[in-house]
Amino acid sequence: MSQKAGLPMTYSAELAATTQALLAPGKGLLAADESFPSIEKRFKEVGLPSTEATRLAYRSMLLGAPDLNRYISGVILFDETIHQKIGRMPVVEALLNRQIMPGIKVDKGTAALPGLPGEHVTEGLDGLDVRLSDYRNLGARFTKWRAVITIGQDIPTHAAIATNARILAMFAAMSQEAGLVPIVEPEILMDGSHTSERCEEVTTLTLRTVFSALAEHHVAYEHMLLKTSMVVAGADCPQQAGLDEVATRTLRCFGNSVPAAIPGIVFLSGGQSEDVATAHLNAICARPHPAWVISFSFGRALQAPALKIWQGQGEQVVAAQHALMQRAQANSQALTGAFKPHFDSKRQ
Ligand code: 13P
Repeated sequence: MSQKAGLPMTYSAELAATTQALLAPGKGLLAADESFPSIEKRFKEVGLPSTEATRLAYRSMLLGAPDLNRYISGVILFDETIHQKIGRMPVVEALLNRQIMPGIKVDKGTAALPGLPGEHVTEGLDGLDVRLSDYRNLGARFTKWRAVITIGQDIPTHAAIATNARILAMFAAMSQEAGLVPIVEPEILMDGSHTSERCEEVTTLTLRTVFSALAEHHVAYEHMLLKTSMVVAGADCPQQAGLDEVATRTLRCFGNSVPAAIPGIVFLSGGQSEDVATAHLNAICARPHPAWVISFSFGRALQAPALKIWQGQGEQVVAAQHALMQRAQANSQALTGAFKPHFDSKRQ
């Protein structure tokens, strides 16, 4: 039974239309949903204070990029942004006018998991039903919830994976009931010195556990997207996997864990440099794979060059928007395997 019992047919058609729009050929998602601490960290790197005004100016610059909808099908917003206006126009309206789907991060960040040192659970289920209905009234079409899994000595534990999977499933079921397409995001963190083999093992186990929980909560697979990490070695591992190995491991992992009914898998960039993230995406998309659409939902790997150029200066808006569009175009090319990496593809 793939249709969620009790899901109103009106929502079913709407969820299908949103999913299809998000997975439009040659397009991906822009994640612009950094929480207050995360955006503060990014701004600090370019010497900019994080205030309501700087955050709005920055996000207006990103969302106002001419032709953004050529490569971007949806934008993930933060709670503050979805209530703001660009000029006189509500952000949601500005996006919808350009056929870009507005989405919203609905989790409230991570907290330490009691009794499980080094592991985390994502918070935000309390009152979520009310917030979902508010976001839908504001015009949001989809939602995102990020869970993090850390690889280290004796972790992740089964308890941490299972707890996060259960909560992701409850978030997804509530989103679909509210008429919003859930983006279910289990991120296997790149932090650490683990090998790519260990990453494949943990990612496969995590995704299997997440899909099992989604099924138990009657989430309609065809009305959701998976957002996850690529299978790579930990950032501190001396033996980094080459492009071919990343593509092989990532697709083998998905083949072993992601149901064919899932319409799309979109990647986060997770701290990879923008060139490496795009080259990995390209290597993965160049290979034959089951029917899921594979695309990107990058934050840093789309935004980093634009932020570096912008640095809060009005006169740099055009150059910064150009840098954003260059990343968006490169990632769009990668979806067909046509991106040419700027470094040795066999590098280790
Ligand atoms: P990064 O691409 O910077 O990892 O961000 C994607 C995202 O949405 C994380 O939740």
